[in-house]
Amino acid sequence: MDGNGRWAKKRGLPRTAGHSAGADAFRKIARYSHKLGVQYLTVYAFSTENWKRPADEVAGIMALLEKYLLQALRDLEKEKIRICIFGDLAPFTPRLQTLCRECMERSSIYTGGQVNICLNYGGRDEIVRAAQKWAAEGCPALSEERFGSYMWGGSIPDPDLLIRPGGEMRISNFLLWECAYSEFYFTDVLWPDFDEAELDKAIEAFRHRQRRYGDVG
Ligand code: FPP
Repeated sequence: MDGNGRWAKKRGLPRTAGHSAGADAFRKIARYSHKLGVQYLTVYAFSTENWKRPADEVAGIMALLEKYLLQALRDLEKEKIRICIFGDLAPFTPRLQTLCRECMERSSIYTGGQVNICLNYGGRDEIVRAAQKWAAEGCPALSEERFGSYMWGGSIPDPDLLIRPGGEMRISNFLLWECAYSEFYFTDVLWPDFDEAELDKAIEAFRHRQRRYGDVG
Protein backbone atom coordinates (compact mmCIF):
# COMPACT_ATOMS: atom_id res chain seq x y z
CA MET A 1 0.00 0.00 0.00
CA ASP A 2 2.65 2.46 -1.17
CA GLY A 3 2.37 6.21 -1.62
CA ASN A 4 0.63 7.25 1.59
CA GLY A 5 3.46 9.60 2.59
CA ARG A 6 3.57 11.34 -0.79
CA TRP A 7 -0.22 11.63 -0.88
CA ALA A 8 -0.08 13.48 2.46
CA LYS A 9 2.89 15.66 1.44
CA LYS A 10 1.07 16.84 -1.69
CA ARG A 11 -1.69 18.12 0.59
CA GLY A 12 0.60 19.64 3.21
CA LEU A 13 -0.54 17.02 5.73
CA PRO A 14 1.50 14.86 8.15
CA ARG A 15 2.47 11.38 6.92
CA THR A 16 0.06 9.81 9.39
CA ALA A 17 -2.84 11.49 7.56
CA GLY A 18 -1.66 9.64 4.45
CA HIS A 19 -1.69 6.33 6.33
CA SER A 20 -5.16 7.12 7.62
CA ALA A 21 -6.38 7.73 4.04
CA GLY A 22 -4.52 4.51 3.12
CA ALA A 23 -6.43 2.57 5.78
CA ASP A 24 -9.70 3.93 4.32
CA ALA A 25 -8.61 2.84 0.83
CA PHE A 26 -7.80 -0.61 2.20
CA ARG A 27 -11.28 -0.99 3.74
CA LYS A 28 -12.88 0.08 0.45
CA ILE A 29 -10.75 -2.30 -1.65
CA ALA A 30 -11.28 -5.22 0.76
CA ARG A 31 -15.05 -4.79 0.50
CA TYR A 32 -14.99 -4.38 -3.27
CA SER A 33 -12.70 -7.40 -3.80
CA HIS A 34 -15.08 -9.48 -1.71
CA LYS A 35 -17.99 -8.25 -3.81
CA LEU A 36 -16.10 -9.24 -6.98
CA GLY A 37 -15.54 -12.72 -5.58
CA VAL A 38 -11.79 -12.44 -4.99
CA GLN A 39 -11.08 -15.32 -2.64
CA TYR A 40 -7.78 -14.04 -1.21
CA LEU A 41 -6.60 -10.45 -0.84
CA THR A 42 -3.20 -9.94 0.77
CA VAL A 43 -2.02 -6.47 1.77
CA TYR A 44 1.39 -5.31 2.90
CA ALA A 45 0.65 -3.08 5.87
CA PHE A 46 3.89 -3.10 7.86
CA SER A 47 7.21 -4.66 6.93
CA THR A 48 10.04 -6.00 9.09
CA GLU A 49 11.96 -2.90 7.88
CA ASN A 50 9.23 -0.35 8.71
CA TRP A 51 10.32 -0.27 12.39
CA LYS A 52 13.14 2.02 11.20
CA ARG A 53 10.62 4.84 10.56
CA PRO A 54 10.25 7.73 13.06
CA ALA A 55 8.61 6.60 16.31
CA ASP A 56 5.57 8.89 15.85
CA GLU A 57 4.89 7.45 12.38
CA VAL A 58 5.13 3.87 13.69
CA ALA A 59 2.82 4.79 16.58
CA GLY A 60 0.36 6.33 14.10
CA ILE A 61 0.28 3.15 11.99
CA MET A 62 -0.21 1.02 15.13
CA ALA A 63 -3.14 3.24 16.18
CA LEU A 64 -4.72 2.82 12.74
CA LEU A 65 -4.30 -0.94 12.94
CA GLU A 66 -5.96 -1.02 16.32
CA LYS A 67 -8.83 1.10 15.00
CA TYR A 68 -9.22 -1.19 12.00
CA LEU A 69 -9.17 -4.40 14.08
CA LEU A 70 -11.77 -3.05 16.52
CA GLN A 71 -14.00 -2.06 13.63
CA ALA A 72 -13.45 -5.43 11.93
CA LEU A 73 -14.51 -7.23 15.14
CA ARG A 74 -17.67 -5.12 15.33
CA ASP A 75 -18.49 -5.76 11.64
CA LEU A 76 -17.54 -9.45 11.41
CA GLU A 77 -21.07 -10.75 11.01
CA LYS A 78 -21.97 -8.12 8.45
CA GLU A 79 -18.81 -8.43 6.31
CA LYS A 80 -18.33 -12.22 6.61
CA ILE A 81 -14.66 -12.00 5.59
CA ARG A 82 -11.98 -14.17 7.17
CA ILE A 83 -9.06 -12.12 8.49
CA CYS A 84 -5.57 -13.58 8.77
CA ILE A 85 -2.38 -11.90 9.88
CA PHE A 86 0.91 -12.87 8.22
CA GLY A 87 3.96 -11.99 10.30
CA ASP A 88 5.48 -12.33 13.74
CA LEU A 89 3.28 -10.48 16.21
CA ALA A 90 5.75 -10.74 19.12
CA PRO A 91 7.03 -7.11 18.87
CA PHE A 92 3.51 -5.64 19.00
CA THR A 93 1.80 -4.47 22.18
CA PRO A 94 -0.11 -7.18 24.08
CA ARG A 95 -3.35 -5.34 23.22
CA LEU A 96 -2.65 -5.34 19.49
CA GLN A 97 -1.62 -9.01 19.66
CA THR A 98 -4.87 -9.89 21.44
CA LEU A 99 -6.93 -7.98 18.87
CA CYS A 100 -5.12 -9.71 15.99
CA ARG A 101 -5.70 -13.15 17.53
CA GLU A 102 -9.33 -12.38 18.30
CA CYS A 103 -9.94 -11.24 14.71
CA MET A 104 -8.28 -14.37 13.32
CA GLU A 105 -10.14 -16.73 15.64
CA ARG A 106 -13.58 -15.16 15.40
CA SER A 107 -13.46 -14.74 11.61
CA SER A 108 -12.11 -18.24 10.93
CA ILE A 109 -15.67 -19.54 10.39
CA TYR A 110 -16.04 -17.55 7.16
CA THR A 111 -15.04 -19.30 3.96
CA GLY A 112 -16.34 -16.92 1.27
CA GLY A 113 -13.31 -14.62 1.17
CA GLN A 114 -10.10 -14.01 3.08
CA VAL A 115 -8.07 -10.89 3.75
CA ASN A 116 -4.46 -11.44 4.77
CA ILE A 117 -2.78 -8.49 6.46
CA CYS A 118 1.00 -8.62 6.47
CA LEU A 119 2.32 -7.13 9.70
CA ASN A 120 5.96 -7.14 10.71
CA TYR A 121 6.25 -9.20 7.55
CA GLY A 122 9.27 -9.82 5.34
CA GLY A 123 9.50 -12.29 2.46
CA ARG A 124 13.01 -13.43 3.37
CA ASP A 125 12.07 -13.66 7.04
CA GLU A 126 9.09 -15.84 6.03
CA ILE A 127 11.38 -18.23 4.11
CA VAL A 128 13.86 -18.45 6.99
CA ARG A 129 11.02 -19.18 9.42
CA ALA A 130 9.68 -21.83 7.04
CA ALA A 131 13.09 -23.52 7.06
CA GLN A 132 13.14 -23.35 10.86
CA LYS A 133 9.67 -24.94 11.09
CA TRP A 134 10.77 -27.68 8.72
CA ALA A 135 13.92 -28.32 10.78
CA ALA A 136 11.86 -28.35 14.00
CA GLU A 137 9.74 -31.13 12.48
CA GLY A 138 12.90 -33.18 11.99
CA CYS A 139 13.55 -32.29 8.32
CA PRO A 140 10.87 -34.47 6.63
CA ALA A 141 11.18 -35.20 2.88
CA LEU A 142 10.73 -31.90 1.08
CA SER A 143 8.86 -30.79 -2.03
CA GLU A 144 8.00 -27.27 -3.21
CA GLU A 145 4.42 -27.86 -2.12
CA ARG A 146 5.43 -29.03 1.33
CA PHE A 147 7.90 -26.16 1.82
CA GLY A 148 5.20 -23.70 0.71
CA SER A 149 2.92 -25.03 3.43
CA TYR A 150 5.33 -23.63 6.05
CA MET A 151 4.66 -20.08 4.83
CA TRP A 152 2.30 -17.84 6.80
CA GLY A 153 -0.59 -18.61 4.45
CA GLY A 154 -0.20 -22.37 4.80
CA SER A 155 -1.54 -24.03 1.69
CA ILE A 156 -3.56 -21.15 0.19
CA PRO A 157 -2.96 -20.66 -3.56
CA ASP A 158 -0.15 -18.39 -4.79
CA PRO A 159 -1.30 -14.90 -5.77
CA ASP A 160 -2.45 -14.53 -9.39
CA LEU A 161 -1.90 -10.78 -9.42
CA LEU A 162 0.45 -8.53 -7.47
CA ILE A 163 -0.45 -4.83 -7.56
CA ARG A 164 2.10 -2.19 -6.54
CA PRO A 165 0.77 1.35 -6.42
CA GLY A 166 2.93 4.43 -5.80
CA GLY A 167 5.17 4.28 -8.88
CA GLU A 168 8.03 2.11 -7.60
CA MET A 169 8.97 -0.92 -9.71
CA ARG A 170 10.11 -3.38 -7.07
CA ILE A 171 8.53 -5.91 -4.72
CA SER A 172 10.29 -4.79 -1.53
CA ASN A 173 10.51 -8.18 0.19
CA PHE A 174 6.83 -9.04 -0.37
CA LEU A 175 5.72 -12.67 -0.85
CA LEU A 176 9.05 -13.70 -2.39
CA TRP A 177 8.24 -17.40 -2.36
CA GLU A 178 4.59 -17.05 -3.35
CA CYS A 179 5.06 -14.64 -6.30
CA ALA A 180 7.12 -17.01 -8.45
CA TYR A 181 4.45 -16.96 -11.19
CA SER A 182 2.29 -14.00 -10.21
CA GLU A 183 1.45 -11.34 -12.76
CA PHE A 184 2.75 -7.90 -11.73
CA TYR A 185 0.83 -4.67 -12.16
CA PHE A 186 2.59 -1.37 -11.41
CA THR A 187 0.77 1.93 -11.28
CA ASP A 188 1.75 5.51 -10.41
CA VAL A 189 -1.53 5.96 -8.53
CA LEU A 190 -0.77 6.60 -4.85
CA TRP A 191 -2.40 4.05 -2.55
CA PRO A 192 -4.95 6.42 -0.92
CA ASP A 193 -6.24 7.19 -4.44
CA PHE A 194 -6.45 3.51 -5.39
CA ASP A 195 -10.20 2.96 -5.64
CA GLU A 196 -12.65 0.49 -7.17
CA ALA A 197 -12.05 1.84 -10.71
CA GLU A 198 -8.28 1.35 -10.27
CA LEU A 199 -8.82 -2.26 -9.17
CA ASP A 200 -11.05 -2.81 -12.20
CA LYS A 201 -8.20 -1.50 -14.41
CA ALA A 202 -5.68 -3.84 -12.78
CA ILE A 203 -7.99 -6.84 -13.20
CA GLU A 204 -8.65 -5.88 -16.82
CA ALA A 205 -4.88 -5.74 -17.47
CA PHE A 206 -4.52 -9.14 -15.79
CA ARG A 207 -7.23 -10.60 -18.04
CA HIS A 208 -5.03 -9.84 -21.06
CA ARG A 209 -1.92 -11.50 -19.70
CA GLN A 210 -0.83 -14.81 -21.13
CA ARG A 211 0.29 -17.10 -18.34
CA ARG A 212 2.65 -19.76 -19.57
CA TYR A 213 4.43 -20.95 -16.42
CA GLY A 214 7.58 -21.55 -18.44
CA ASP A 215 5.76 -23.48 -21.19
CA VAL A 216 5.47 -22.32 -24.83
CA GLY A 217 2.65 -19.90 -25.72
C1 FPP B 1 3.75 2.69 2.64
O1 FPP B 1 3.61 4.03 2.16
C2 FPP B 1 2.76 2.43 3.70
C3 FPP B 1 3.03 1.93 4.95
C4 FPP B 1 4.39 1.57 5.38
C5 FPP B 1 1.98 1.77 5.97
C6 FPP B 1 0.66 1.27 5.49
C7 FPP B 1 -0.32 1.30 6.60
C8 FPP B 1 -1.63 1.61 6.48
C9 FPP B 1 -2.29 1.86 5.19
C10 FPP B 1 -2.51 1.77 7.69
C11 FPP B 1 -2.79 0.59 8.52
C12 FPP B 1 -3.18 -0.66 7.81
C13 FPP B 1 -4.37 -1.31 7.91
C14 FPP B 1 -4.49 -2.64 7.30
C15 FPP B 1 -5.55 -0.74 8.58
P1 FPP B 1 4.79 5.08 2.38
O2 FPP B 1 4.62 5.72 3.73
O3 FPP B 1 6.11 4.41 2.19
O4 FPP B 1 4.51 6.11 1.25
P2 FPP B 1 5.60 7.03 0.49
O5 FPP B 1 6.42 6.08 -0.35
O6 FPP B 1 4.77 7.94 -0.33
O7 FPP B 1 6.41 7.74 1.54
